[in-house]
Amino acid sequence: MSVHIGGLTPEHAGEVMTIQRAAYLQEARRYGAWDLPPLVETLDEIRGHLGDGTPAFGAFDGARLIGSVRSRVDGDRMEVARLSVAPDVQGGGVGRLLLRAISERTPEKVQVVWLFTGAESDGNIRFYESAGFVRVSEHLDAVGIKCVTLEQKLRKRCPEVVVR
Ligand SMILES: CC(C)(COP(=O)(O)OP(=O)(O)OC[C@H]1O[C@@H](n2cnc3c(N)ncnc32)[C@H](O)[C@@H]1OP(=O)(O)O)[C@@H](O)C(=O)NCCC(=O)NCCS
Repeated sequence: MSVHIGGLTPEHAGEVMTIQRAAYLQEARRYGAWDLPPLVETLDEIRGHLGDGTPAFGAFDGARLIGSVRSRVDGDRMEVARLSVAPDVQGGGVGRLLLRAISERTPEKVQVVWLFTGAESDGNIRFYESAGFVRVSEHLDAVGIKCVTLEQKLRKRCPEVVVR
């Protein structure tokens, strides 16, 4: 498998929806919650998000989209959202590539990248912690599932110093 990372546009909405639904089914089964936001998000909502100018990336194996990630930016904070990898290629490093891509290509003003995941999703929490995220808080989501918020402070490159 030869994976490349590229930007996503509204034209990718159908493929993004397919991957997202397939990926999040395992989370739905874990929590017995079939109305998780990533499973009920409509095609129009996905299309709108992909067209709003916030960073969104796909992982491609040739022409096939095998993973996707989107974001929401609020001031100096960026939420990583809907990280999804096609079930048949999970565990092969694609999620890590997507997480790195979106964390490294943030708008200039972003200082903190954050996300949340289910408190019982031990594998996801380990995955984010191994990428440098730390737990900061817990909350109940819209469907009553206990979630953990994790965040990472970005080390922005300093402006180049010219020595004369
Ligand atoms: C979570 C997810 C995006 C990870 O993507 P992935 O491509 O499977 O992950 P990677 O192969 O890049 O994993 C990187 C590392 O994390 C580990 N890891 C990732 N997901 C894991 C899981 N669920 N359980 C245990 N370990 C996991 C991998 O074993 C790997 O460890 P290593 O580097 O020591 O070998 C993917 O499994 C997915 O789409 N899950 C369903 C949707 C979901 O839960 N999204 C996140 C919601 S916050």
